[in-house]
Amino acid sequence: MNSGKNELVMIIDFGGQYKQLIARRVRECGVYCEIYPNTVGMDRIRELAPRGIILTGGPASVYKEDSPSISPELFSLGIPVLGICYGAQLMAYLLGGKVETAPVSEYGHTEYAVDDTSSPLFASLPEASVCFMSNTDYIAELPEGFQRTAHTDCCPVAAAESREKGLYLTQFHPEVVHTLNGQAMLKAFVLGVCGCSGDWRVDSFVEETVRSLKEKIGDGKVLLGLSGGVDSSVAAALLSRAVGKQLTCVFVDHGLLRKNEGDEVEAVFGPEGGFELNFVRVNAQERFYIKLAGIPDPEMKRRIIGAEFINVFEEEARKIGAVDFLAQGTIYPDVVESGTGSGGAMIKSHHNVGGLPEHVDFREIVEPLRNLFKDEVRRTGIALGLPEALVNRQPFPGPGLGVRIVGDVTADKVRIVQEADYIFRKELEAAGIDTGKGQFFAALSNMRSVGVMGDGRTYDYAVVLRGVITSDFMTAEAAEIPWSVLQRCMNRIINEVKGVNRVLYDLTSKPPGTIELE
Ligand code: XMP
Repeated sequence: MNSGKNELVMIIDFGGQYKQLIARRVRECGVYCEIYPNTVGMDRIRELAPRGIILTGGPASVYKEDSPSISPELFSLGIPVLGICYGAQLMAYLLGGKVETAPVSEYGHTEYAVDDTSSPLFASLPEASVCFMSNTDYIAELPEGFQRTAHTDCCPVAAAESREKGLYLTQFHPEVVHTLNGQAMLKAFVLGVCGCSGDWRVDSFVEETVRSLKEKIGDGKVLLGLSGGVDSSVAAALLSRAVGKQLTCVFVDHGLLRKNEGDEVEAVFGPEGGFELNFVRVNAQERFYIKLAGIPDPEMKRRIIGAEFINVFEEEARKIGAVDFLAQGTIYPDVVESGTGSGGAMIKSHHNVGGLPEHVDFREIVEPLRNLFKDEVRRTGIALGLPEALVNRQPFPGPGLGVRIVGDVTADKVRIVQEADYIFRKELEAAGIDTGKGQFFAALSNMRSVGVMGDGRTYDYAVVLRGVITSDFMTAEAAEIPWSVLQRCMNRIINEVKGVNRVLYDLTSKPPGTIELE
C-alpha cells in the first residue's frame, strides 16, 4: 500500500479523542497519513517531509505549564499546518495570540458564520452552517498576521488563518460528522492548501502484500489466532493466499460468542471452507465460565478473558511446536490506540483480547493489516473472496458477550443473551432494517424485577436491546427502530427466552453512554 505514500500528511496528537477520525477523514480524501505523538522532533518532521500537518484537539489548556506542546519552529518549516481545537489554540498561543477560559463552554452542534468567503477552507461552502464544538478555552486574540475567517455566537474565533504562511486553525472539529461541511474543509486543506493529489488507493494492496508476505515468510510456518472477526479473518485470508498450508489458524471459542458464531467461523475456514490453511477449533467455553464466576467488574472481566484466551492459545501453540511467525490482525486504529501522544483519557481497555502471548515459540510477528483502517480491511476481505456477511458484519468486542452481560457472567446468562440477541437480529433482518451503519445487539442488565406470567409471579432478568447509528464508533446515536418491531422483539424474547420478564430499549447516545454496556 505504498502508492501515493510520498504524499504524507502528519497528524500530531495532543491527546484528543478524535485523532483517528482525523486520519480516517484524510485517507477518505485519498491521502496517506500517519499519527505521531507531540514529542516528534523537528528533525524527524523535516526527514519525513510531509505535505501537510494537522494538530489534533486535546483535553488540556495551552496556558498550563504541563500541557502538551511543540516547538514553535513547526510553524516556520514552510509546511502547511491546520490546528484543530486544542491544536488551534496551541498554534495561536505559540505564535503570540491569547487563549483564555471561555465564559460559556461550547459543546455540541453550534452554528457558525463565515467571515471571509475567500478562505481556502470555506470557499465554495455555505456562508453559515453547523459545526461541532467541544471546548472550554477559546482564542481571545489572534497572533499577528492571522485573519479571522469564521465565528459563532459564543466563540469570536471559530476559524482563522494566515494564508501567506499556510497556517489554518478551526476551533471546531471538522473531522466529526456533525460538522456538516467538515469533510469538504479537510479536503480543501489536504488537496487544495497542501497540494496532495489524492491518489492513494487500496486496490494494489492485496497484490503487493501477498508478494511481500511470500518474500518475508519463505517456507516458514505461521500461526494466527483467528477470532472470526473481520480483522483476523481478513488476515487469515491474506496469509492463506500468500503461504497456504504453512498457515495454521487457531480459533478459540470462549463461550462468549453470539449464537451459532463458532460454527459459522468453522464453515468459512474449516476443512469444508474454501481457504487453504490448517484450522484448529478449541471449544474452551467451560474454562472461561469457571474463571469468570463471581467477577462483576468490567475491567477485571476483560483482563480475565484476555489472559485465559492467551492461556488456551498458548496450549494449542505448544501442540503445534515452534513456528517462525506469529500473525496478528492488528489494524491501524489498534496501533494508534495502543499509545501515541499524551494526555488522552483512558475510557476502557479496548481492543485485542489479550495482547501478545509470551510463551509461543516464534521468531517474528507479521501484521499484514497494520496500516489499514476498517473499511479498507473490509474492501481487502471482499477482494480475497470472503463472504460479504462476514466482511461487513457488525463489530463485536474481543471479550464478546462478557461486556454485554452487566455484572458477573454465568453460562445461563450467556444463553439468555445469545437467544435474545439472535431474536433481535432476526427480527431486524425480517423488518428490512439497515444495521450496516452501526451496532445492534442484545445485552443483559443485571437487574431482576417482578413480573407476572400466566397466573404466576416471576422474578427474572431484564434484557436490554441496543441499536446505535455511528460512522466512527466514537460518537453514536440510538437508532429509531419502529415501535412494532421493538414490540415483536419484546414479545418473542419474553415468550421464548427462559429467565427474562422485561425488555428495555436503550436510548442513550455516545457520549455520554458508550456503545457497549461495559
Ligand atoms: P464503546 O463501548 O467504547 O465501543 O463505545 C466502541 C467500539 O469498540 C468496541 N469495544 C471493544 N472492542 N474489545 C474490543 O475488541 C473491547 O474490550 C471493547 N469494548 C468495546 C465496541 O463493540 C464498539 O464497536
